[in-house]
Amino acid sequence: MIGKSVEQAAKHLLQGDLVGIPTESVYGLAGNALNLEAIAKIYSVKDRPQFNPLILHTHSLDTAFQYTTQLSTELTTLADAYWPGSLSLLVPKSDLVPDVLTAGSPDVVIRVPHHTMTLDLLKSLPFPLAAPSANISNTVSPTTANHVAEGIGNRIPYILDGGACAIGIESTIVTERNNELLVLREGGISQEMIQAISSLPVRSVKNSDMKAPGQLKKHYATRKPLYIVPDIEHFYQTHPTLNICYLSYSDRVLSQHTICLSKSYNLSEIANSLFSCMRKADNTTADCIVIEQIKTQGIGRAIADRLHRASTPLPDSWEKS
Ligand code: TXA
Ligand code: MG
Repeated sequence: MIGKSVEQAAKHLLQGDLVGIPTESVYGLAGNALNLEAIAKIYSVKDRPQFNPLILHTHSLDTAFQYTTQLSTELTTLADAYWPGSLSLLVPKSDLVPDVLTAGSPDVVIRVPHHTMTLDLLKSLPFPLAAPSANISNTVSPTTANHVAEGIGNRIPYILDGGACAIGIESTIVTERNNELLVLREGGISQEMIQAISSLPVRSVKNSDMKAPGQLKKHYATRKPLYIVPDIEHFYQTHPTLNICYLSYSDRVLSQHTICLSKSYNLSEIANSLFSCMRKADNTTADCIVIEQIKTQGIGRAIADRLHRASTPLPDSWEKS
C-alpha cells in the first residue's frame, strides 16, 4: 500500500516489517538496522547478495556517534556541512551495529537523509534504519513511490509517499584514509562541494585502488541495451534507420522516441530525471537506448558513473561516432 502516514510507516517498522521510504536521493527499502530478521528481509526482498552491505540511516550527527567508534574531525566537518543530505560516511562501526548489516566488515556507512517525512519517521523510532535503494538488485533505482510499487510493491506492506526525489541519484560515499578523503561512490554531493570545505585532498577511487562500494560492474541497468555515444547528433545522422530511443540533453527531437532529460544541458536536471527517463525508455517500443557521454564535472561524475554501469559496449558493426 502507498500512503503518506509517518505513523503507519513507524508501526510496520516497529513490528519488524519493511517500508519504502522517500529520501532526497532515491527511495530506500527500510528496516530496523539493529534487528537481524529485518536485515535478512531486506536482502531477500531485493534479491541482494549477502556480501553487499547496507547503509545505516539516522536523523542527526549526534545520534550517528552511537554507531561509530571514530568519526574524524575532517569527516565531522563534512557531516556538519552536508547533513541532512546526500553524503554517506564510511567509518569504523561500534558494537551496536550488527555484523550482518556491514556484511562482516568492521566499517559501517552512515547517512542522515534530507527529507522531512523520513526525518520525522527516524525521530519517532527507537532504532536507526537500514535502507538500500528500494529496487530489485541491479535494476534502475526508484525516484518515486510508484517506481517502488512497480518493483517490490507486492513484497512489502507499506510505501511512504514523499513525492519525487529532489536529487534523483544516490548519495556520495566518502571515507578518510592516510590524510586523504576518498570518494568511494560518486553521488549527489560533488567532489567540488567536498573539496570546498576540506583542507585534505579529495580523490575518487577506482575499482582497482580499493574495494569500493556500489561497484558491481553491471548495475542500475535498463532492460533494453543502453549505448553511450560521443556525439548524439552525429550518431543520429549516421544511423537514421535504427529504431532507437534517444535520451537527450536538449529539446531537439531526434526520433519518435526522443526523451528530454533537460532542455539546456543542466546537470542537476539531468541527474534528477535520469532514472525515471531510463524507465520510460524501457517502456517504449524502441529496440535500444542511446545517450551521449556526459561532462564529468560536479554531479556529472555521478551521472557518468551510473550511465557507465547501465551501458553495453556499442556493437562492432556500428560506426563509433
Ligand atoms: O542515496 C543513498 O545512499 C540510498 C538512499 C536510500 O539512502 N541508498 C543506497 O543504498 O544507495 P544501496 O544499498 O543501494 O547502495 C549503498 C552502497 C552499496 O554499493 C554498498 O556496497 C555500499 O554502499 N556500502 C554500504 N555499507 C558499506 C560498508 N560497510 N562497506 C563498504 N561499502 C558499503
Ligand atoms: Mg542501490
